Amino acid sequence: MIKITKAVEDVMKRDRRVMFTTTKEDIPFVVQRGERDHAWDIAGNRYIDFSSFIGVYNLGVNGNAEIRKAAKEQIDRLMHSAFLDYYAELPVSFAESLVGMMPKGFGRVFWSNSGTEAIEDAIKLARIFTKKYYMMGFYNSFHGRSMGSLGLTSSKVSGRKHFGPFPHAIHAIYPNPYRPMFGASDPDDYAMACIDYIERNIFARECSSDEIAAIVFEPVQGEGGYVVPPKLFIKELRKLATENNILLVADEIQSGYMRTGKFLACEHFGITADIYAMAKALGGGMPIGATIAKTNLGDTPPGSHAGTFGGNLVSMAAGYASIKYLRRNKRNLESMAREKGRYMLKRLEEMKDRYEMVGDVRGLGMMLAAELVKDKKSKEPAIKERKEVLMECFRNGLVMLPCGVSTIRVIPPITMLKENVEKGLDIFEDAIAKVSGRKK
Ligand SMILES: Cc1ncc(COP(=O)(O)O)c(C=O)c1O
Repeated sequence: MIKITKAVEDVMKRDRRVMFTTTKEDIPFVVQRGERDHAWDIAGNRYIDFSSFIGVYNLGVNGNAEIRKAAKEQIDRLMHSAFLDYYAELPVSFAESLVGMMPKGFGRVFWSNSGTEAIEDAIKLARIFTKKYYMMGFYNSFHGRSMGSLGLTSSKVSGRKHFGPFPHAIHAIYPNPYRPMFGASDPDDYAMACIDYIERNIFARECSSDEIAAIVFEPVQGEGGYVVPPKLFIKELRKLATENNILLVADEIQSGYMRTGKFLACEHFGITADIYAMAKALGGGMPIGATIAKTNLGDTPPGSHAGTFGGNLVSMAAGYASIKYLRRNKRNLESMAREKGRYMLKRLEEMKDRYEMVGDVRGLGMMLAAELVKDKKSKEPAIKERKEVLMECFRNGLVMLPCGVSTIRVIPPITMLKENVEKGLDIFEDAIAKVSGRKK
């Protein structure tokens, strides 16, 4: 059981006074340091990390020794190189390495500093390549909170209220197999109904396909609740985009970088997008956004796009060290994500069988989640109970993050030792048992 000290309460109080409110829950986690599978707070409590700090620490909390060494050495050499105006080798080497991980035909990278910027850049690239204006996204998606990406984001109305209108954005339906629409009971029928909806309602009534520059999608919806669509949906989406001369932008900001057991989650669906957006784990803990496009789409005209901090050398050093590690250990990371992911999903499925409150468990590789409901029949979201489960986990030394309306992400670092994965799952199950009022 962790202890909450006065120092913890003080920081929270000062935070509330001086910081704008963000998405923080009431969990009194004042983090101070991290190493491998664990984080410690300022009171000295140790926690197992089942959040990867929002999908960033895929290779371990606080990166690994190689990532940290590279960043530290770069600080003493040169931190900022004005990469938009002057040349530097490191961002180029890193881009070459990243391109080497992409499907064939991908050749150009734009460096930025966050996920939302990576999406902004994808929007700008799609416009300049196609000379078209509109962007189509999906309900329940999350692409960031700056004005271009926010137009596409539609996971929660609280993130959009008073910020619109967003005239560039159109939304279509993303099939959530746990909560099907259109009366479809078969996942493939549901997938086809969603594609049909785009053609019949969006293209035919709202916005002609020849005015749409790009379709932006998450291969697995993250913030929206870790929704894995039917494979057929993503395949048909690819087909629809190609047939209508629309670019397909895959947001791999959360799902990429081995999280699902593959470098890109799109690989699970057997498709290739035209533009990829990446961030989060790409910097090994440092802020990086990357937008990667197919070479045959062309280039940006001089002066049309740049940014002061894109290609920051400390971030690049960390990211480059991280991708070098990943490339050396790719097979190992793939099998870790596959095997631990399989074990974790099995444990989550057992919880689903045991507890009425666990309505659905799902995910790919180590991008997993459990959706909590009042009861399996009504599927009514168990919002209050989710909060209680998260708090109970925290009290017992496990940090987790919510997503969707009543879902909890299960995303430890891919490198987490199996024994800590087991311990974390035990704490999670105990919390579910306690909140649902049943013994294990
Ligand atoms: C899929 C996806 N896209 C975009 C973003 C935005 O990234 P950032 O918070 O770095 O702007 C996120 C962040 O959670 C995300 O999960």
